[in-house]
Amino acid sequence: MSKQKRGSWGSRSQFILAAIGSAVGLGNAWRFPGLAAKHGGGAFLLVYLLVMLVIGIPFLMMEIAIGRKMHRGVPGALRAIKRGSEPVGWFAVSNAFVISVYYAVVFAWVILMAFASFKFADITGDTAAASGVWADLIKTTGTTSGYGTISIPVIGCLLIAWVLIYTCIRNGTGTVGKVVKYTVFLPIICLLILAGKGLFMSGAFEGLKKFFIPDFSTLSDPSLWIDAIGQVFYSLSIMMAIMVAYGSFLNEKANIAKDSMIIAFSDFAISVLSGIVLFTTMSGTGQLGNMTESGIGTAFIVYPQSIVLLTNSGITNAIFAFIFYFCLCTLAIDSAFSIIEGVSTAISDKFDLNHKKTTLSLCLVAGILSLWFTTGAGLAWLDIVDHWCNAFSLILVGILEAIVIGWLFNPLKVLKEVNRNTDKFKMPAWWFVISIKILAPLTLLGFFIWNLVSLFTGGGIYGAQDGYSFASNLFGGWLILALCIASGFIVKLIEMKLRNYKPDNDKWED
Ligand code: PHE
Repeated sequence: MSKQKRGSWGSRSQFILAAIGSAVGLGNAWRFPGLAAKHGGGAFLLVYLLVMLVIGIPFLMMEIAIGRKMHRGVPGALRAIKRGSEPVGWFAVSNAFVISVYYAVVFAWVILMAFASFKFADITGDTAAASGVWADLIKTTGTTSGYGTISIPVIGCLLIAWVLIYTCIRNGTGTVGKVVKYTVFLPIICLLILAGKGLFMSGAFEGLKKFFIPDFSTLSDPSLWIDAIGQVFYSLSIMMAIMVAYGSFLNEKANIAKDSMIIAFSDFAISVLSGIVLFTTMSGTGQLGNMTESGIGTAFIVYPQSIVLLTNSGITNAIFAFIFYFCLCTLAIDSAFSIIEGVSTAISDKFDLNHKKTTLSLCLVAGILSLWFTTGAGLAWLDIVDHWCNAFSLILVGILEAIVIGWLFNPLKVLKEVNRNTDKFKMPAWWFVISIKILAPLTLLGFFIWNLVSLFTGGGIYGAQDGYSFASNLFGGWLILALCIASGFIVKLIEMKLRNYKPDNDKWED
């Protein structure tokens, strides 16, 4: 057991809110509606729900349970389960660190747009001007060259982003528990205001029909299933070291089975609410066909076009612009800090370091690295790194975690931990075991192979994504992936170099 004092959640609701805060992020606001638009609305919703129930929820329960049982971040928890599996945990942690670096930049963009929302007051009806607001502000070249142009406003907002992230997690669960009360409810209020506006626009009904009525012909398209699987894992914040860390601060009384259900369904409800906002607003302004699946385009290019068409009053439009971007800020912040918290927990547990100092150092290092994405080349690099982290690293982590728990360990032991304090609802063994042992690794493997095939066939250039050079994929993709995989072995080397290091020999005991 770590000698440093570990934090713990002040109450059950603090944990639930923090986990919901992490799960509910930019992914709900723009990726979910974008994917629904791509895949026949209601059909995507149904498949998403199915995948969430069958694989997402058991995986979420598993991560929280191993964290709670071992009171350690993911590397330490996996090590206690099976000695040799610690590097899988470090793979998750290092990938989470990479995600934190660029997620902070997206967070900075939404802060910047909130500040810049007054610009919408003067461009009523001018969709061309609206679609350029963001690109002008961030001074992007759209390619992997153009390091010379740096956007000072983005750097300013990035500084604000990192200060906010650090402030929220500086005392671990102590501060997180307090801020999530606001960061979880504020975006819901904003979304309700925006949904209210959207629902009263003419054309709103058409939008709702597109969002809710399933077009079952899309069900036979494998890309629908692949996208739904990816979105479920991304949205629940699993395989990112976060949920294990948040679980590790839980007390013995927590009811993991029930709390995981609450977390997953709240996350889903907020995705649906965001879908209502986007589908009604886009439909009301005639933009429905322009929604992009990745979301960045939707949030920064297409949605601004809707903003200038919302009303004839510039000031009113600017106010709605502010509400939208402020909402995105509040959605992003608790996801952004949760990911740093996951990394910090893993490192401070491993080397018995002061949690606060570790968090500060991580914010500084990640903050400096994130400057890379504030240059003119930043957007293209962000796109490449994001693609690799989500399409490959995250999925590999998931496959490996499922193999360690499902095959090298015993999922029934983890289930016992999940169901330890349950009253009415117990997670059934068949559901949990089939999912962790078979369905999760198989679907993730399918997803991984699909992504790999599209990587090699999609871009034309060997191993390159569409539009980016092989060299940039080599650096932003393969190299970062290799470093993340190697991170566990690097940690091992550091451990061997530290003279007084005492290895953590705790084991999972029933
Ligand atoms: N679940 C988050 C979302 O939907 C994903 C995420 C979590 C990303 C934490 C980064 C950090 O946006």
